[in-house]
Amino acid sequence: MASVAPTYYTNQVQVTDEVATFSPAVLEEIDSHLTKYPPERKRSALIPLLFVIQRERGYLDNAGVNFLAKFLGLEVTDVWETATFYSMFNLHKIGKHHIQICKTLSCRVMGEPEITGHICSRLGIHAGETTADGKFSVSLVECLGSCGTAPMMQIGFDYYEDLTTAKVDVILDSLK
Ligand code: FES
Repeated sequence: MASVAPTYYTNQVQVTDEVATFSPAVLEEIDSHLTKYPPERKRSALIPLLFVIQRERGYLDNAGVNFLAKFLGLEVTDVWETATFYSMFNLHKIGKHHIQICKTLSCRVMGEPEITGHICSRLGIHAGETTADGKFSVSLVECLGSCGTAPMMQIGFDYYEDLTTAKVDVILDSLK
């Protein structure tokens, strides 16, 4: 079994002045989020817009964050503060399938280390890494709110619960 190094996505980013550009359709979508909030509260659109930027850029890169700061009239550091706080935002390119394993108490007690070890061993990577073919990334994250069905993980937007190593094998085999 591969050892599981305690490595996570780093919060270190290289800051430049580059500002991302988007297609008219994406700009329209970005604008549409602002209509949900009072004009003086446009900062409230930050999280939904971070999701749009992440989807379009593949992850939250410097240029995308610069765009958002400019668009919302915020300091770049305000945007990074939020972007680096939530594990749902990726600060680096990730694989096609992002496996996020909950490492918090209930999951930990119910077998997370074995599940993480099994997944990492199968994929030949450590937590925090991406397979060479770019297909899988593995992250250890804080509680995903499904403690009653621990151990659990999230892949993309789907939850996989009451995990066993046999169940994990079936799940990984089903991912193309
Ligand atoms: S502790 Fe794992 S989902 Fe809450």
